[in-house]
Amino acid sequence: MIDGVGSRAKGRFPFTPFPRGWFFFELARNLPTGRLVSRQWMGESVVAWRGEDGNVCIANAFCPHLGAKLAPETGGTVRDGNLVCPFHGFTYDTSGACVATPTAEPNPACRLRVYPSEEINGFVFGYYDERGREPEWHLPTMDETGWTKTLTHVYSVRTHPQETSENVIDLSHLSFLHGFEGVGHSGNVEVDGPCFKTDFRVDGSYKFPLLKRIGTELDAEVQIWGLGFLFVETVSKSLGARTWNWFLATPVDGDKVDILVSAKVQALDGGGIRGLNLVPRGLREKMMLPLVMYEFKKNIENDFMIWENKAYRPYPFLNEADGEILNFRRYCTQFYPESVNRSVSPATA
Ligand code: FES
Ligand SMILES: [Fe+2]
Repeated sequence: MIDGVGSRAKGRFPFTPFPRGWFFFELARNLPTGRLVSRQWMGESVVAWRGEDGNVCIANAFCPHLGAKLAPETGGTVRDGNLVCPFHGFTYDTSGACVATPTAEPNPACRLRVYPSEEINGFVFGYYDERGREPEWHLPTMDETGWTKTLTHVYSVRTHPQETSENVIDLSHLSFLHGFEGVGHSGNVEVDGPCFKTDFRVDGSYKFPLLKRIGTELDAEVQIWGLGFLFVETVSKSLGARTWNWFLATPVDGDKVDILVSAKVQALDGGGIRGLNLVPRGLREKMMLPLVMYEFKKNIENDFMIWENKAYRPYPFLNEADGEILNFRRYCTQFYPESVNRSVSPATA
C-alpha cells in the first residue's frame, strides 16, 4: 500500500493527513542543477534534483533495485543530471527510468516512483495522489511584472492543511482573534472544481512597528487550489499598495505541516500614507515589503496556538457570522479518498 492511503492524522482529524493535490516542495532557487536534496514530504521520504534539461524530479528516496536510500546524507549523488545510487551505482534520469548500471543492461521495469512537479512563480510543487494518478488540474501562475521580489518564511505547525485554509473562510475569527475591524464579504463565493474563490474586506486600522496607527480599507481576494495552495491579493487604499501573499501548507509526517508564507508588493499611485507618495516608487516598495511581511507573519502566528491545540468539530454549531465554512468543507471532500468522505458526513451534507 502506498503511504498515506486512508491513514489518519493520529486520531486528531477524521480524514487523511495526506490529501490529493499540489503541495509545495522547495523554493526553485534552492534547487540549482546538480544539487540533491532529501526530506519528509507527504508522509514519504523523498529526494529531488534538477536535471540538465532544467526539470526538477521529486522521487521516492529508496532505490527500486535493492532499496538503498538515495539521499545525499546516505551517499546519493547527481552526475550529468542523473541520480546515482550509492549501493550498486544504478543511474536514474528525471523521468525515474533506470538508464545505466555499472554491470548490465538496465531492467526497463526498474523505475523510481516520481511525483509530477511544476515550477510556478519561483516555487516548486509536487503532485500527490494516494494512488499515484496523474494530475487533472494545475495551479495558477501570476504575472510578476511590476512587483517586488518575494519574501518568504517557513513555519512548522502541528495541524492539518484543511484547518489552515479554513482559517481564511472563518471571517468571525478575523475580528476576535486578529483584531480586524469591519470584517465582511464584498462579493460571492465561487467554487469551480479544484478552485475555491472568496473574498473579504476590512475597514479598520493597522499598527505597524515604529509607525502610528493608520486607517485601513482593505479588499482581499482569495484563491484556494486544493489544500496546499492559498493565494491572497489585497488592495489597501490606505497603505497605497497591492500585495500578494502565498500561503502554502505541506503535510510532512502526518502530524506536522510546513507552512510557507510569502509576500510581494506593488505600490499604487495616489492614496497611501501621507508623505509616502513623495518617495520614489521603488524605494516606497522596498520600505513597504518588510512591513507587509511583518504584518502577515504576526497575524498568522496568532493562529498557531489555536491550530495546535484545537479539536476538529465535524458537527460545529455555527451561526450566521461564520460565513462559508460548511461550503468550504464540502469543497475539500474532492481531495480525500471516497471512504474518508463517507465517514465525514457533515462536510458532504
Ligand atoms: S540498491 Fe540502488 S543500485 Fe542497488
Ligand atoms: Fe487566522
